[in-house]
Amino acid sequence: MTDDSVFRMLQLRKIEPHVLIVTLAREEVRNALNTEMGRELMALFESIAIGAWQTRCIVLTGAGDKAFCAGGDLKERKGMTDADWQLQHLVFERMIRAIIDCPVPVIAAVNGAAFGGGCEIAGACDFVYAAHDARFALSEVTLGIMPGGGGTQTLPRATGERRAKELILTGRSFSAAEAEAWGLVNACFPREALMDAALDVATSIAHNAPIAVRQAKQSIHRGLQMSISDGLAFEIEAYNRLVPTLDRREGVLAFNEKRPPRFKGH
Ligand code: COA
Repeated sequence: MTDDSVFRMLQLRKIEPHVLIVTLAREEVRNALNTEMGRELMALFESIAIGAWQTRCIVLTGAGDKAFCAGGDLKERKGMTDADWQLQHLVFERMIRAIIDCPVPVIAAVNGAAFGGGCEIAGACDFVYAAHDARFALSEVTLGIMPGGGGTQTLPRATGERRAKELILTGRSFSAAEAEAWGLVNACFPREALMDAALDVATSIAHNAPIAVRQAKQSIHRGLQMSISDGLAFEIEAYNRLVPTLDRREGVLAFNEKRPPRFKGH
């Protein structure tokens, strides 16, 4: 899938050949996540996993200056039967898995409110930059549900168990500065500087050897689920995949020739 006209809830924009900006594009409802947006995100991230878009780094953000994503579309959900709710949730579960399992790095640029499922989408990304005035909340328990888009797993991994319990069990909102202090956000920027900062980092990742970046991401991601001993063994398996690559030769050659490397992903 490389035709961006199939997306109605997302806007795709390539910045240089290998950096893709994905914008959640329902500004009028603060980029709330409806079933169609869930399907599109799932399809997009699955297609990136199998090589579409020649993407080496993704920046995920929200349209407008109010919200990254206001979570599940509560208007669409009004009056939903239990069966419809469950069916929609299956889409959201697969969407979150597709983001978490994406082999290419995903940076969230949180440009406003990231509530409920919006906070979970940010939490599913590899790392997060935020506007100073962005706000976060896993507010589900205030609505009679609980986080079901990975929030009970990704938040404690970022902030530690006690902070995550405090935030999820109260459902209270928290600031970008708090999110940074607690480890959910890597850095905060003035709103107008956020995208440039995210794109600078995405571009520098995209200039690195793409297989090396993927292998390193996977090693961190999977290794953290293992004992240190198994993690070390996994790391070496990931490392060994890089030894026969042309990019490994190019990296060493470029250093010796005192020039920037030209990595091709082979
Ligand atoms: N689902 C559907 N529509 C939503 C929405 C959601 N999750 N969040 C906001 N909207 C809609 C509002 O209903 C409003 O539509 P209207 O003009 O037809 O009334 C529009 O988006 C603007 O919302 P508003 O609240 O006026 O914007 P704001 O900029 O002042 O505040 C938020 C933005 C995100 C802080 C606020 O809308 C909010 O708290 N939303 C609910 C978030 C939530 O609880 N999510 C958890 C879902 S599990």
